[in-house]
Amino acid sequence: MALTGKDFISTGDWTKEELGRALDVARELKATFKAGRPHRLLPDKTLFMIFFDLSTRTRNAFEAGMTQLGGHAHFIDANTSQIAHGETPHDMGIILSTYGHGIAIRHDKVPGEGNPYMRAVAKHAEVPVINLQCDEDHPTQQMADLMTIEEVFGSRNLKGMRICVSWAYAPSYAKPMSVPQGLALLLPRFGADVVIARPPEYRLMPRVMERARRLAAEGGGRLTEIDDMDEGFRGAQVVYPKSWGAEHLFGNDREALALNAKYRSWICDTRRMKLAAKNAIYMHCLPADRGNEVTDEVVDGPQSVVFHEAENRLHTAKALMALTMGGYTGNGLRPRTKATLRPRVRARRRR
Ligand code: CP
Repeated sequence: MALTGKDFISTGDWTKEELGRALDVARELKATFKAGRPHRLLPDKTLFMIFFDLSTRTRNAFEAGMTQLGGHAHFIDANTSQIAHGETPHDMGIILSTYGHGIAIRHDKVPGEGNPYMRAVAKHAEVPVINLQCDEDHPTQQMADLMTIEEVFGSRNLKGMRICVSWAYAPSYAKPMSVPQGLALLLPRFGADVVIARPPEYRLMPRVMERARRLAAEGGGRLTEIDDMDEGFRGAQVVYPKSWGAEHLFGNDREALALNAKYRSWICDTRRMKLAAKNAIYMHCLPADRGNEVTDEVVDGPQSVVFHEAENRLHTAKALMALTMGGYTGNGLRPRTKATLRPRVRARRRR
């Protein structure tokens, strides 16, 4: 299975087998890291990371991960580079390809902008492009989520598992829609029965949900939407309550937060956790708005796996970099010595 040079912009762009391969590699890299064994699969390689938004986990997982793989992750703040003066994704894709071996991008704040931006970079790049969160998807987060679910429940086959992805109240800012959408795009493909619970104003992007429903049907899972948080939690083995903004109010913080405030009661607390299955786990991509999205009692409680989930960001990031940037031969942890350019991109550039 050749993943070298392949972009990772949405989990929906990869087959289930390819995603499974990445999870297998993440598990292997996790064990190697924990055993303290070196795993320099990408020596002397450079990943450029362009950030249009803030980050704790994603930036540091990729940066630390690249160091552990023997390479360097270079941070580019979109606001302090020529991108802020209008330098195009076309030019960024071409130029950064001549300097290094991979490009990763976070561009998640404006609906309709981030995903087309990274696909435009990818179209002109000769190196793989990894989505570090866009308006549509947060695929590296969702890989860590699936890895965590598999580790907790012992199987990647989620057939029969009810997973509630719920909107929750946050007073801090209008958070991107990409996490609930990314969960809808990925988990039903592995058989899960995903229920999205949300107030009526917080619908997810229709085009993304249409794709998620199509993928769910192919994968044998289910995807439904309801407007009742309690009902969503009832009997769920995984609850993933988090806030997101109403699509029509992005860029209008005052109105967005006023609308959020109508739904202060949408909090994950111990009463709601009791509605879920006895063995239910609480998940969140973090950062969580403590006291609003979730009580301290739940996020720090025995059902919470949020730090386990955050830790898995490192291992999945490393797997995705090693696989797409040519560091993984598939025959164990042996580094490749020659960079492999993507034949399809080279052919396109010649045309
Ligand atoms: N979960 C996540 O993406 O965290 P950061 O925003 O801190 O990267």
